[in-house]
Amino acid sequence: MNLILLGPPGAGKGTQAEYISEKFNLAHTSTGDILRAAIKAETEVGKKAKEFVESGKLVPDSIILDLIEEVIKKSEKEGFLFDGFPRTIEQAEGLEKLLKNNNMKIDRVLNLKVESEAIIKRLVSRRVCGNCKATYNLLSKPPKKEGICDVCGGKLIQRKDDSRDVIENRINVYNKQTKPLIEFYKERGILSDIDAGKTPDEVDNEIQEVLSSIS
Ligand code: AP5
Repeated sequence: MNLILLGPPGAGKGTQAEYISEKFNLAHTSTGDILRAAIKAETEVGKKAKEFVESGKLVPDSIILDLIEEVIKKSEKEGFLFDGFPRTIEQAEGLEKLLKNNNMKIDRVLNLKVESEAIIKRLVSRRVCGNCKATYNLLSKPPKKEGICDVCGGKLIQRKDDSRDVIENRINVYNKQTKPLIEFYKERGILSDIDAGKTPDEVDNEIQEVLSSIS
């Protein structure tokens, strides 16, 4: 099974991806995580992507499609869960070609829907572990000890693009460049809307219902 998690920044794609990839043994492929790791490691891709990621703009399609081609070649899992990819029509068409060359297709696109106000609230209060990348939220999922990761004891940090002005830019970029994908996948008959304004467990239940009807 190959799935896409579509949705604005802060919709909860990363949170839901953890649950789904474990249950279905899928390769959780977050282009945001791949890019942040490349920036940290100061690789060629990281150097090219840094300014785009930190200002909330999209990294050029050609860079992203090259990364995805590598991921598809290397994975040994039973399918893919794409999180935050594709983000443009060009990326979606590129993905279709890459999958077709490997005798695969996208089975379902989960469109996580949340209001902008809720997104801003969630993102300004998100904290991530600088070591193991576990995600917290000062409002809905605080760590047991302030500033410290429950999982590994690492220090919690705020992502550079989680400042209010960059969040607003990311939402604008989503509306302009990524939202057209809703129509793109609707036309292919594989889009399911999910109410992602509910609690993480409720969102998970709604996703499970959709997936049980196709798996
Ligand atoms: P990326 O890392 O993909 O960021 P994003 O899409 O903006 O999504 P986020 O990670 O911010 O949010 P999420 O939906 O995963 O929510 P989460 O579960 O963490 O991309 C970053 C940048 O990289 C882009 O801006 C771009 O520059 C570049 N990039 C990445 N992919 C690219 C591509 N394909 N093409 C070009 N450029 C690309 O949850 C958020 C917070 O809310 C957390 O604190 C969480 O605990 C909390 N939360 C989650 N669910 C709930 C809930 N149901 N109720 C309450 N709180 C919740």
